[in-house]
Amino acid sequence: MEKPFEAVDRYFESLYTPGDEATSAALAANAAARLPAIDVSPAQGKFLQILARAVRARRILEIGTLGGYSSLWLAGALPGDGRLITLEVNARHAAVARENFSRAGLADRIELREGPALETLAQLESAGADRFDFIFIDADKPNNPQYLSWAIRLSHPGTLIVFDNVVRDGTILDDRSRDAAVQGTRRLHELLAAERRISATAIQTVGVKGYDGFAIAVVVDP
Ligand code: SAH
Ligand code: DHB
Ligand code: MG
Repeated sequence: MEKPFEAVDRYFESLYTPGDEATSAALAANAAARLPAIDVSPAQGKFLQILARAVRARRILEIGTLGGYSSLWLAGALPGDGRLITLEVNARHAAVARENFSRAGLADRIELREGPALETLAQLESAGADRFDFIFIDADKPNNPQYLSWAIRLSHPGTLIVFDNVVRDGTILDDRSRDAAVQGTRRLHELLAAERRISATAIQTVGVKGYDGFAIAVVVDP
């Protein structure tokens, strides 16, 4: 049986995210390539796009591309000369994502960097990349504490940093969990709460992806 909050999410989807060609084609291509169906939901994709628009993001960084579904939503927030850099370790995921970006006509605006994010982030910094206005972090959860440090280093006052999957069905309350994703997420929340260079909170969500949540932080003036 479909849960009420799933039905409500479908209702919101039909109202707020009707038939976008590029994003639905990407979902179909991801399914055909048998990628895990762990993309953000349509309503969440649009939520991320709205946040990126609200800060008038011209440079967006994403950690964890998968098939590029969230990337497409985020790229939709960019002005013509804006740029999205997205980081992915899995070559098969990256290949599917590149196809999706080309099909959407966004291959010139989205740059996919393949490799373990801790390495590609270090390369970004040493290449002197400009700071990012919006950073979405949705990759391997045990590394989220390190990704927070990198996000802060690659940000400026006003940058929004968003983490996906920070509730995990409530399992994060178990401080003795042996799940590395749970421990990484707990550490992330502690760091977000203690970090003086940002102001952060977390919001629980329900919908077609079940019970989970986003953490959101804004980089504050020093
Ligand atoms: N943001 C996507 C979903 C990402 S799923 C969307 O909503 O559409 C998480 C992705 O992170 C997977 O594709 C996985 O291969 C990638 N990933 C896992 N560990 C990684 C690492 N160390 N570096 C870069 N990407 C990683
Ligand atoms: C998983 C990862 C995600 O990024 C997500 O949004 C949902 C599930 C997972 O690894 O199971
Ligand atoms: Mg996720």
